Amino acid sequence: MKKLTVKDIDLKNKKVIMRVDFNVPLDEQLNITDDMRIQAALPTIQYILGQSPAKLILMSHLGRPKGKSVDSMRLTPVGKRLTELLGQKVLKLDDCKGDEVKKAIAESSEKVVLLENLRFYNEEEANDPAFAKELASLADIYVNDAFGTAHRAHASTEGITQYLPSVAGFLLGKEIEYLGKAVYNPEKPLVVILGGAKVSDKILLVENLLEKADAILIGGGMAYTFLKAQGKNIGNSKLEADKIDTAKKLLSKAKEKGVNIVLTTDFLIVDDFNNKASRKIVDEIPDGWESLDIGPKTREQFKKVLSTAKTVVWNGPVGVFEIDEYAEGTKEVAQYLATLKDATTIVGGGDSAAAVKKFNLEDGFSHISTGGGASLEFLEGKELPGIAALNDKQESKV
Ligand code: 3PG
Repeated sequence: MKKLTVKDIDLKNKKVIMRVDFNVPLDEQLNITDDMRIQAALPTIQYILGQSPAKLILMSHLGRPKGKSVDSMRLTPVGKRLTELLGQKVLKLDDCKGDEVKKAIAESSEKVVLLENLRFYNEEEANDPAFAKELASLADIYVNDAFGTAHRAHASTEGITQYLPSVAGFLLGKEIEYLGKAVYNPEKPLVVILGGAKVSDKILLVENLLEKADAILIGGGMAYTFLKAQGKNIGNSKLEADKIDTAKKLLSKAKEKGVNIVLTTDFLIVDDFNNKASRKIVDEIPDGWESLDIGPKTREQFKKVLSTAKTVVWNGPVGVFEIDEYAEGTKEVAQYLATLKDATTIVGGGDSAAAVKKFNLEDGFSHISTGGGASLEFLEGKELPGIAALNDKQESKV
């Protein structure tokens, strides 16, 4: 990696401030329902603590409180979980800036401090220089390990790098390594599985991957706009009418480039969108019916193409996997991917990562990204501001 990492600098007796993405899902009782993002930051946290720093100050956002203190978006449950995972007390503060924060950090005997939700201040998302400088004033060195937030140019991801030597943590490095190789230098054949609700979310991704992929398998809600573009009947299935022309253009570009686009050929359809609706598998969707999952023939076609892959990137479920009745297609694709031992298999975060977790298949994949929006933008070929802002190896300020 061309960015400096925690391994390239001396952390001994230094105050280190690290941006993490602890934006974890909470239930109504404020229990964390998935701690993957906290677990994923542990290797960097433990490495830094092993270097005898003066302090390790962690900072994150949680949710979208829009510049106000919102009790249900405090990082208190995260501080508790982190204390359990580290087996060492984490001092959780109720603010992220100001004299009280400085005093608490200076007076505490705890090595690890967790600041309060950065987005309780509008200045965070506004990338306000004074706010960034204030965060920087808490430490000597800045580490970014928040891949999930690397697509945001915020005070804690971009602004702060103006004031401190700025390096990457291990999670950031691992994400760049896997996603970067898949996008810029994949072992071929590269097969991409795309799903999820909307074509509009994935246009740039398809455009970018058409330059590199050997095959693109399309399922989920976005498939129906492509099928409509081919003149197929899609009944009441999800359609973005204003994207039919875009879908046509993408299909013809794929043909030009020799990229094999595989669309859904059979469907699990329902006559009403709820579990008790009548359901059947069909090759053509009749009027009045809606498709919610790929059928068995499509699953076999997808598997046949996947069996040839050396690299697989999966972004978006191929059916409404959150409801068990419509989860079979996504489950079978995930199970098959988990058996591919000669291929690098990458799950591009968000809903597909949630699906892998739901089916307990995490160990079967080479890499499951912790970024939803961030991995999407990375796969679109965009430069992420949180990564770009870190010190390059040759231009070290350290
Ligand atoms: C995410 O969950 O994708 C990241 O934490 C970023 O959150 P945001 O979309 O609210 O900026």
